[in-house]
Amino acid sequence: MTILDPKPSLAIPPEPVGSLVVASRSIVLADRVIPGTVVMENGLIVAVEEDRVLAQAEDWGDDLLVPGLVELHTDHLEPHYSPRPKVFWEPFSAVFAYDAQIAAAGITTVFDSLRAGSDGDSVSLGARLFALGDAIERAKTTGLLRVDHHTHLRCEICSDDVLDQTRDYLERFDVRLMSLMDHTPGQRQFRDEGKLRDYYRGKKKGMSEAELDAFFAERKALHDRNALAHRRALVATGHDHRVALASHDDTTVGHVAESVADRVAVAEFPTTVEAARASHAAGLAVLMGAPNVVRGGSHSGNVSARELAEAGVLDILSSDYVPVSLIEGAFGIADIAAIGGLAGAIRTVTKNPADATGFTDRGEIASAKRGDIVRVRLVDGHPVVREVFRLGRRVS
Ligand SMILES: [Fe+2]
Repeated sequence: MTILDPKPSLAIPPEPVGSLVVASRSIVLADRVIPGTVVMENGLIVAVEEDRVLAQAEDWGDDLLVPGLVELHTDHLEPHYSPRPKVFWEPFSAVFAYDAQIAAAGITTVFDSLRAGSDGDSVSLGARLFALGDAIERAKTTGLLRVDHHTHLRCEICSDDVLDQTRDYLERFDVRLMSLMDHTPGQRQFRDEGKLRDYYRGKKKGMSEAELDAFFAERKALHDRNALAHRRALVATGHDHRVALASHDDTTVGHVAESVADRVAVAEFPTTVEAARASHAAGLAVLMGAPNVVRGGSHSGNVSARELAEAGVLDILSSDYVPVSLIEGAFGIADIAAIGGLAGAIRTVTKNPADATGFTDRGEIASAKRGDIVRVRLVDGHPVVREVFRLGRRVS
């Protein structure tokens, strides 16, 4: 692993925030929607005045006031860093460009997902993972990032290099969430091997049948060699570093039992109703992709997020690969009875992900919480993010 030269500190003293007072006819609290005024001082909410428009308030009228969104799994940083295969953008610049897009989607706390270990499909960042981690840390020291950034390390457990990469990364950088992924053909997300074959046969890969056979055989050999031992080691490493763990693509109740035994906090993208029900019943927060809601189903042919919401077992939405899907997805499930109205829907992208990762200072509009708020206007049924404030300061 290349150790990068320490960079000079670019820290800029924070500007004083002062007060921010905003009124709206629709303030989305954790359990209901109210008209009123939210008062923030020095970055924190100090009062929520129901049914009152304070004289000094900026009046947002019919625009909704929702808590800043909390995003646990976005893959959107890596494409900013590597916008084409084998093309790498300057990482510091990539982090700021990505940050702006995340903020514009109404997200004020983000877990940047970075992959450790190669999965044999997409090209691993390899040592460049550390250049990206270094750029994130440098960007944070400037005080100029719009969003509060944390790291979600996505660990591809079957790969040969996942343990070294994960341990090196944890030694150098702060990680708040680790997910344990196994994308072996015939397993979990790719339980239907035929569908995966179709994907690889398609234009994108253009592989011959013989090449596909060899590729799948190699992936299965990696699974047999590494999956069990690497999962055990990664779970132990995660707990040692007090990092919240996420399971990934759990499909059977057996998978869920393993996740429960491993003291996993979040069940990412369960692929079946059975796995989602078992996870939710065991106290794991069930996370599904917001694009799954917006597009009306899973791109991999697995269970739909709406179906899980209707069954009362959906806890968290994540934007996955399209940042704006987070707010769209939340409004998209507000009509489902089991969700608990708009307040319940917004909880899946604010309080629930904050709680699942131990952030008790944010995720709802309430006294003493951070002044992370978003102004949203509904236009033709679509939520449009108009303004975003983090710690009472406008960031988008
Ligand atoms: Fe997956």
